[in-house]
Amino acid sequence: MICERLELQMSILALDKIDFSYVKDEILFREFSLNIEAGESVCLLGANGSGKSTLLKIFCGLVFPSGGTYRAFGQEITENLLEDSRFAQRFHRRIGFIFQNSDAQLFTSRVWDEIAFGPLQMGLSQAEVKNRVDDILALLHLQNLAERSPYRLSGGEKKKVAVASTLVLNPEVLILDEPTNGLDPKTQRWLVDVLLELNNHGRTIITSTHNLDLAHAISRRALVLSEEHRLIYDGSCQQAIADKQLLMAANLIDEYCHVHGENQHSHLYKHS
Ligand SMILES: Nc1ncnc2c1ncn2[C@@H]1O[C@H](COP(=O)(O)OP(=O)(O)OP(=O)(O)O)[C@@H](O)[C@H]1O
Ligand SMILES: [Mg+2]
Repeated sequence: MICERLELQMSILALDKIDFSYVKDEILFREFSLNIEAGESVCLLGANGSGKSTLLKIFCGLVFPSGGTYRAFGQEITENLLEDSRFAQRFHRRIGFIFQNSDAQLFTSRVWDEIAFGPLQMGLSQAEVKNRVDDILALLHLQNLAERSPYRLSGGEKKKVAVASTLVLNPEVLILDEPTNGLDPKTQRWLVDVLLELNNHGRTIITSTHNLDLAHAISRRALVLSEEHRLIYDGSCQQAIADKQLLMAANLIDEYCHVHGENQHSHLYKHS
């Protein structure tokens, strides 16, 4: 009994033998279990279609398992519960989700308003909202974008605004789906620094990526999904990245075979 209680306290997000399918009779996850503890930095690695985004959507309460349980902060999360708007608001404040495609997340005509939207929904005073928005713009060095229209920003700038509009709510868990896609090296470094800083301050960070350098830079733990949607590795991120067989099996690196004159030659796309 005591052990059970301790385990619940440590685990911030927990999937217990969940089943999930988008289409009837086409099961994506079967009896899939996973525990994430407060303060972890976890990276989901897997080929296209392995189920990374789906797992992140389950964590964010955007889709729901048909069997098993999903618990967040010790409470079982169900579709019924998230239909209660007060509960949903609290839940989404605690778990921030940064989408793969920033366009899906931005909807106002001015960056400042975009970032202020969440705090206004929380019912904070105008003065408090202003303080929060100005603080986050300064912290992320985005003051120059404040008056711009989000629709007229570059892909990387949109991502920065999406990050700011999530962080302004100070979520305990931050979930990012393929966060560095399409970002230039400097912007990738900016994001890595932001995530490391948040994790150092106790925030739980969960990302999905194909980018092994990003995984290595921000995550201590890696979860590798097979193309059959099964968890084939759960352990140190550093060890996962050093394990060529595992990365090949998960289709995260490939062997490039070609012929020079008479000789067939092959090497990894990813250099060791
Ligand atoms: N809305 C949907 N309806 C039906 N099938 C879906 C839906 N979304 C995803 N799928 C299917 O579920 C499987 C897992 O998709 P998911 O988006 O979770 O993969 P992923 O690992 O995030 O892939 P990627 O690396 O391409 O982003 C895929 O086979 C995909 O075609
Ligand atoms: Mg995806």
